Amino acid sequence: MAMTRASVVGGSGYTGGELLRLIEGHPELELGQATSRSKERRTVANTHPNLRGATDERFVHPDDLEPTDVLFTATPHGYTKEQLPELQELADVVVDLSGDYRLDDPAAAEEWYGEHPNTELLEEFVYGVPELHREEMKDAELIASAGCNATAGILALHPLVEHDLVDPRVVLDVKTSSSAGGAAASTASHHAERSRVVRPYAPTSHRHQAEIEQETNLDVDITVHAIEMVRGLSVTAHSYASDSLEEKDLYKAYRGTYGDEPFVRVVKSRRGSYRYPEPKVTEGTNYADVGFAVDDTGDGFTRVVSFSALDNMMKGAAGQAVQCMNIALGFPETAGLEFQGMHPV
Ligand SMILES: NC(=O)c1ccc[n+]([C@@H]2O[C@H](COP(=O)([O-])OP(=O)(O)OC[C@H]3O[C@@H](n4cnc5c(N)ncnc54)[C@H](OP(=O)(O)O)[C@@H]3O)[C@@H](O)[C@H]2O)c1
Repeated sequence: MAMTRASVVGGSGYTGGELLRLIEGHPELELGQATSRSKERRTVANTHPNLRGATDERFVHPDDLEPTDVLFTATPHGYTKEQLPELQELADVVVDLSGDYRLDDPAAAEEWYGEHPNTELLEEFVYGVPELHREEMKDAELIASAGCNATAGILALHPLVEHDLVDPRVVLDVKTSSSAGGAAASTASHHAERSRVVRPYAPTSHRHQAEIEQETNLDVDITVHAIEMVRGLSVTAHSYASDSLEEKDLYKAYRGTYGDEPFVRVVKSRRGSYRYPEPKVTEGTNYADVGFAVDDTGDGFTRVVSFSALDNMMKGAAGQAVQCMNIALGFPETAGLEFQGMHPV
């Protein structure tokens, strides 16, 4: 049977590199083209050394893109906002990893991401979290792969919303890694400045807050810290219930919501070093690990602490984008995403 051709705009970036790795290992896909303006004509493996021996492709300029079956756009916010109408001419399915089409509401999209020339296309995109939108994704032609912090936040909170367990105001604390900022260097990412930080870089708001609010209908207050990790992120969400809640209620909710999900694992153990979700366990995998703790405050409220951990470039970006594409094209949902991770790392 003919393979499905997949190309990547932004192939020289961090999530683009992960997409190329996943395409090379995917049983149904073959690599079409990978673009980079700055690395045009250089080999893919020169930029992504882990792909030595897997591909001898060279980067092409985005202007030289040819028609393809699937196009992944792993470009900074702003590129697909402008280019989507032309890109649609080239591919049957477009999966955009940027924030340009994640928000349904044109006013919210412009509030968080600036002026948008194609707001009428926002409603044509399916929001790329399969655990919430699997049915709409089948046969979808336009998918907006969700943000990394947003994916983790949404998956931590979704069972609480689905089972109507907590009050609507939630505080989210996010700890994230350096690769979340992409491959381009900045003063803040210079090794001497970035190494060993615990830096609150978005203390009171972050664009992903809007996605989490859109998908959960909760009022979300978010704080993001940059910490000493190359890959991965961890979310701790604090919510309150005016009813008394016990651990068994939370087990029931989380297992009920995620019991059949191939890429969400409920992690809550009584013993061992990894009793709660831990990003390093998910490195290189498409898993999101979620968990919870219950705190009886003694004054009539229950505090629910929800956790989520994932690899920002996998379940937070390229892996989830491939999972969405698998659903859209009718491939097995786990195709090309079976890597179980390593221990210890
Ligand atoms: N990093 C993460 O953990 C993560 C997670 C979820 C979502 N995302 C989103 O995914 C997208 C890519 O992120 P990233 O971290 O992979 O970024 P990155 O490492 O900075 O890579 C960006 C890529 O886009 C290309 N590019 C930049 N401007 C372009 C333009 N105007 N036209 C065409 N190509 C252009 C770059 O190559 P040339 O400049 O050489 O063309 C490069 O290949 C972003 O929207 C980001 O927000 C990232």
